Amino acid sequence: MPAAPTPPPARPDPAHPGDAGWEWDETLFSGTAAYYQRGRLPYAPGLADVLGEALRLDGRGRLIDVGCGPGTLALSLAHLFGDVVGVDPDRGMIAEAGRQTAGRGVAGRTRWVRARAEELPAGLGTFTVATFGQSFHWMDRDPVAATIRGMLRPGGALVHIADLKTETRTTDGLPHPAVPYAAMGELVRHYLGPVRRAGRGTLPHGTPGGEAAVFTRAGFAGPERHVVPGGQGLVRTVDDAVAGVFSMSFSAPHLFGSRRDDFEAELRRLLREASPSGRFSERLPSTEVFVWRKDPT
Ligand SMILES: C[S@@+](CC[C@H](N)C(=O)[O-])C[C@H]1O[C@@H](n2cnc3c(N)ncnc32)[C@H](O)[C@@H]1O
Repeated sequence: MPAAPTPPPARPDPAHPGDAGWEWDETLFSGTAAYYQRGRLPYAPGLADVLGEALRLDGRGRLIDVGCGPGTLALSLAHLFGDVVGVDPDRGMIAEAGRQTAGRGVAGRTRWVRARAEELPAGLGTFTVATFGQSFHWMDRDPVAATIRGMLRPGGALVHIADLKTETRTTDGLPHPAVPYAAMGELVRHYLGPVRRAGRGTLPHGTPGGEAAVFTRAGFAGPERHVVPGGQGLVRTVDDAVAGVFSMSFSAPHLFGSRRDDFEAELRRLLREASPSGRFSERLPSTEVFVWRKDPT
């Protein structure tokens, strides 16, 4: 099956000089929040249990989820903590996280803060665990890692969470066609140009990898690696696939400007041609977790 719509590969640390001119701006995820829950595939369902066990969580500690987006990760872990703080600079993401919290019975011990990670500690106190779910690569990583280490209590942990990139996810045995990611990527490039867009700028070499070196430089010990198995078959609709595209920073709705409706119409046409039933099959990715300890254990 074609791979999910991946941006160009991560570049090694230290920062690639070709992207040295890129600067973060507040439009990076602008307008994506409304599409995020529907469009993005969830983390593997065993994630909370794996973290609960690995970190010996007893429902009493404090979690800070940095780059929390619409709160999905933080809310899925909230039962393991006494208090949860999500931090994200995107206004839409923070509003969506607030909406997602309603009716879950955790509102009294959940707080959403609109801020960049670079603005921490922001008087938020100390924490048992800090999570970064596919967000750390957007940050000024060395100072953020150092600040977070300072915000962790003795024995605390920083947890880096992402979809496992090294597995092949086939749709063999599933009932519907695969999502036509390659053709969708082509269409995005046709509208937005060949170079990956990111906010008001471009990222020809993608976002940085090599976070292990960053965490080590900041004084963290580790990591412990866990892979939470995915592989479950999912049925995705045309609306889900469209939401997936608009949930991505590199194809965020605002980037299409006045051509947004034309793009969406063409995208829907492409998806209908790939699956006249309007249904696609896809497998859930596995989730890769790296636990970094504030102090050596
Ligand atoms: C791919 S989303 C991940 C959302 C969520 N953590 C998850 O796992 O589903 C990346 C998030 O990082 C946030 N982000 C980007 N730059 C950031 C920064 N400098 N500080 C904090 N968050 C940032 C974005 O606004 C976005 O919500």
